[in-house]
Amino acid sequence: MKKISIAIDGPASSGKSTVAKILAKKLNYIYCDTGAMYRALTYLAIQEKVDFEDESELAELCLEHVISFKQTENEQLVFVDDTEVTQAIRQPDVTNAVSIVAKHKMVREKMVELQQKIGQAGGVVMDGRDIGTAVLPKAEVKIFLVASVSERAERRFKENQEKGITTDFDTLKQEIEHRDYLDSTRTVSPLKQADDAVKIDTTGLNIEEVVEAIEQVISTTL
Ligand code: C5P
Repeated sequence: MKKISIAIDGPASSGKSTVAKILAKKLNYIYCDTGAMYRALTYLAIQEKVDFEDESELAELCLEHVISFKQTENEQLVFVDDTEVTQAIRQPDVTNAVSIVAKHKMVREKMVELQQKIGQAGGVVMDGRDIGTAVLPKAEVKIFLVASVSERAERRFKENQEKGITTDFDTLKQEIEHRDYLDSTRTVSPLKQADDAVKIDTTGLNIEEVVEAIEQVISTTL
């Protein structure tokens, strides 16, 4: 069967990576979490004390270091050079700075280049903010996942609890809203539904139902 590209975009904590991972496993496709790449760069900027507003220094970091993924049976591990940063990039210091780092044109150019390389042969499920609009504009399937901010904050709250990260619910909700605001108002490739994307509101849906809804869309393409 033809290997297609599936782009899944949407705001913070809309369930993109959870369903993207499941779909990739079912289809035996590559899964690419582009948010993890921006997070890994932000982690590096924190480690190397690079100012989040310093576009050229940040772009330089992209050239000096290698961000990569390693797929295991159960999870996708994220590496910066030889250091595993899977958990570190989910910590609040990274989460609260990543949208500043990700707004820069030079940073996005470097990241998009890497992402396009990963997706060039098809057979990929890629999630992010600009996959359908900028990274894989020719993707056969484009999904835009949304959900109410309360539900998204609740999901993230539970996820954090499971990972042992302590967060206050209201703060989390504000942080999600702020990140969405920054991501959707930036000049370069803002978070935006592609004209040809199918919007799915996941409020009140469980993971299986979201996966099913996306599979319906895929089945009309294959
Ligand atoms: O998907 P996740 O919430 O982990 O993404 C973290 C951040 O990375 C987003 O809030 C956004 O600032 C940035 N991002 C982006 N473009 C993407 C994926 C993520 O700007 N394609």
